[in-house]
Amino acid sequence: MTALLELEILTYFCTQAPCHKQKLTHPEHCIFKHFGYVQFQTKDSAYDTLKRVETLTLTKPDDMHLHLREGDVMRDVLADSTRQFARVIVMPNLKSPVVSTEQALDYRRSIIESLSEDIQARGEFNPLMTLYLTEKMTVDEITKASQSAYVHAVKYYPAGATTNSDSGVTAIDKVYPVLEAMAEQNLPLLMHGEVTDTDVDVFDREAIFIEKILSPLMENIPDLRIVFEHITTKDAVDYVREGSDRLAATITPQHLLLNRNALFVGGIRPHHYCLPVLKAEEHRRAVVDAATSGSPKFFLGTDSAPHSREAKESACGCAGVYSAHNAIELYAEVFEKTACLHKLEAFASHYGADFYGLPRNKGTITLEKNQWQIPDYLPFGESKIIPFRAGEPCHWKMKQ
Ligand code: DOR
Ligand code: ZN
Repeated sequence: MTALLELEILTYFCTQAPCHKQKLTHPEHCIFKHFGYVQFQTKDSAYDTLKRVETLTLTKPDDMHLHLREGDVMRDVLADSTRQFARVIVMPNLKSPVVSTEQALDYRRSIIESLSEDIQARGEFNPLMTLYLTEKMTVDEITKASQSAYVHAVKYYPAGATTNSDSGVTAIDKVYPVLEAMAEQNLPLLMHGEVTDTDVDVFDREAIFIEKILSPLMENIPDLRIVFEHITTKDAVDYVREGSDRLAATITPQHLLLNRNALFVGGIRPHHYCLPVLKAEEHRRAVVDAATSGSPKFFLGTDSAPHSREAKESACGCAGVYSAHNAIELYAEVFEKTACLHKLEAFASHYGADFYGLPRNKGTITLEKNQWQIPDYLPFGESKIIPFRAGEPCHWKMKQ
């Protein structure tokens, strides 16, 4: 028990079935003795669990959306992800995009070679590869991909939407034959859910994507399995929640922790610029509700997207937040704030694997409530990278 007594507590309630948020006059009055799940509400409506969790052991998580880049810098960013995650879905938007199974296998080999010797030797880290969908993609290539044990999905970028997306799709109907083959062969499509029309406001890109691209696609190819990547709006949350089981969504730490004000605190903040761009507070709250709802349709995908400090702090800065350094600890903070720590494991370690038809991991990680300071910068090849929340405190620490 902590400094709870210093707070002015208005109501207690139990979050577990069959109590269903029934108000309690005293935290220990839950007749089912769900004491660890009793929450309270204070004057400013902050919620917290009554019994504070100080350590939390989880099945080792998977990051279902990650940018590892290539060359020198890969070793640096890999060290962060391998510490926390057993498997990662690797994005294919390299300078020269990964468009074939052969290229995906080469890329995978270079990732394995960049792992530290002990992780390589223990076979503890498994990069799950994806192909980049271009209008030149063939049905034959899809067949090769679906027969490979290493390719797990195909990534859709609207042309011009984000980093290295020039080879992306200009009109979705151009790739329909390939998408039909993917549906037949049960290869999921991972969608960067935005439109790029210049007349659409940048904050509306995701909502219009649902209307113009996703919804017709779900109707026209009903068997295609889709991950709506890095969702940022209430529109996306509602659409996924109400949609069929073949649709799921990933959620990033920055879209849980920041709203769009964070782009302009005292000046322009390039390290908070990512795509889809941060949204208004009502949208952030909807995304938090989705992540902490316990629905298997929402799972962890950091979209950690490293760019050098110079590339971010520039007259035309690149999009991407580097969250891989302490991603799981950032998610823990969000789940703690909403008194949902008991749902973190399923979000981080079960639902993604289940959607991809992979076994859940065997190992575990342990997080401790322990404040530390996120470094100001990290090595990134010859340059530096500024991690998410650089120089600020982090409230959870993964035990080494
Ligand atoms: O912010 C982003 N950065 N969003 C993306 O979709 C791509 C990513 C990157 O690769 O830099
Ligand atoms: Zn991404």
